[in-house]
Amino acid sequence: MSSELVSRSEAWAALERHRDCVCALHMRELFESDPRRFDRFSVEACGLLLDYSKNRITEETLAGLLALAEEVELGRWVERLFQGEHVNTTEDRPALHMALRHRGSAAFPSSSFDVMPPVRAVRERVRAFAGSVRNGDWKGYGGERVRTVINIGIGGSDLGPAMVAHALGPYRHPALELRFVSNLDSSALADALSGADPESTLFIVASKTFGTEETLMNARSARAWVSDHFGTDDAVSRHFVAVSTQTERVVSFGIDPENMFGFWDWVGGRYSVWSAIGLPIVILTGMDCFEDFLAGAADMDEHFRDTEPARNLPVLLGLLAVWYRNFLAAATHTVLPYDYGLRLFPDYLQQLEMESNGKHVTREGVAVDYETCPVVWGGLGNNAQHAFYQMIHQGTSLVSSDFIVPVRSQYPLPGHEDAVLANALAQTEALMRGRTVDEASASLIASGLAGEAVSARAPHQVLAGNQPSNTIVYETLTPRVLGALTALYEHKVFVQSVVWGINPFDQWGVELGKELAKVIHAELDGSGRESEHDASTSGLIAYVRTRRHRG
Ligand code: F6P
Repeated sequence: MSSELVSRSEAWAALERHRDCVCALHMRELFESDPRRFDRFSVEACGLLLDYSKNRITEETLAGLLALAEEVELGRWVERLFQGEHVNTTEDRPALHMALRHRGSAAFPSSSFDVMPPVRAVRERVRAFAGSVRNGDWKGYGGERVRTVINIGIGGSDLGPAMVAHALGPYRHPALELRFVSNLDSSALADALSGADPESTLFIVASKTFGTEETLMNARSARAWVSDHFGTDDAVSRHFVAVSTQTERVVSFGIDPENMFGFWDWVGGRYSVWSAIGLPIVILTGMDCFEDFLAGAADMDEHFRDTEPARNLPVLLGLLAVWYRNFLAAATHTVLPYDYGLRLFPDYLQQLEMESNGKHVTREGVAVDYETCPVVWGGLGNNAQHAFYQMIHQGTSLVSSDFIVPVRSQYPLPGHEDAVLANALAQTEALMRGRTVDEASASLIASGLAGEAVSARAPHQVLAGNQPSNTIVYETLTPRVLGALTALYEHKVFVQSVVWGINPFDQWGVELGKELAKVIHAELDGSGRESEHDASTSGLIAYVRTRRHRG
């Protein structure tokens, strides 16, 4: 396809025509008329079963979506990605996070442009350093071994390692505690420092750019905490390490370059958990565990690159997401893990999906005339059932969901596993089937109600159903499964971006707020002159200033 908007394509028009047929269908009927629907619409790969049969689709829908993928030359874009072409057009660089989990001794992405030697070299340094922290060889300035590790970072330099560290709880070192600080409000740092002993605390300052205000301000305050305790800045080199692409900035902050672990501009922040940004994970769980996590992602890379679209997990998830967003007008998508280990997964995906695909122009800078990224949100399954599921069951919006379900818990206890599974599956069934007015009335009558009371109450107990969901099932949350699951969503995001014709690897939208914050900050602390703002912003600045002076 040329640089024309995808909405002008024949494949798009065909899906728009087909939408009316699907809108008239209820998934109940689709299941009733096809006992083989589960077999038809489920695929297993890389330790994950994807059941996508509870979607508002028919064989024709799937064929139409696959035709759309062909129209946008998805296969060619996947090759471009894996071959290291500059798919991040606005920053003129490749997106090569797959190199970080590439296995074996072969070059990647090609023998003429091989990024693997430095990748392997940093991995070995991470292995050695993390090993020395884990076995107690690494000593603080006062000679104590490390007991608390505090990662200071934000966005991709926080969400990835935090998500994985929480997910791999069963693998953690018994004598190490890992904490995360991301927020600029000093309460966050105070919380992380509470109860920590400077003698046995190691800080990892994680920032791709080493220019992020939140991270640097927290790191400076943490540095003061260490220096004040020991009465010298010399202690910093034993209590601070950095993960960054920016050596000079790390050095000027006061961190020894020997204690810096690098990565490269071709790793996007939200795709960086596989790089040295994973250092806190390696310290907590060990290199073998981290390498299993990388191996799971490598499994998914191979699956994504080599599998035909109709059986390709990221392709299917991405196309289904396009179907709901662009053809059935769904504005939101929920992620619902029924695995306590995945409690931070929805937050992680929020950045991955929304920072990647929240774009309004194509790669060529042309404004799109269709929707792009939906709002991605979610929470732990059982908790969410008692919070926001009501809206999905009986609200007025179409909401698509991903249920993520383990067969076995990481910490099994009698009775719990079956109860969790029953809840997850019951919710997908309820969302799909709903409850008709006749069914609601019958159940009210069975409960002893009669006459007008039944007809008065029944409408409140009707669920329209027809709410779509994918169910992703795996045996248990091992590092390898987690790697595959995380990479699945990375590639899903890429698939959507190719259909929408946008660049998922930049994030210019976050810059304006950062620029304005600098101006306002200078006004608030008196180091800059007053600038012109709208009446609301000026009013708020004046209000805060008055309060400060009073305090
Ligand atoms: O502001 C957004 C962002 O640039 C994210 O893309 C990134 O993950 C985060 O900030 C942190 O950036 P850094 O790792 O450079 O501190």
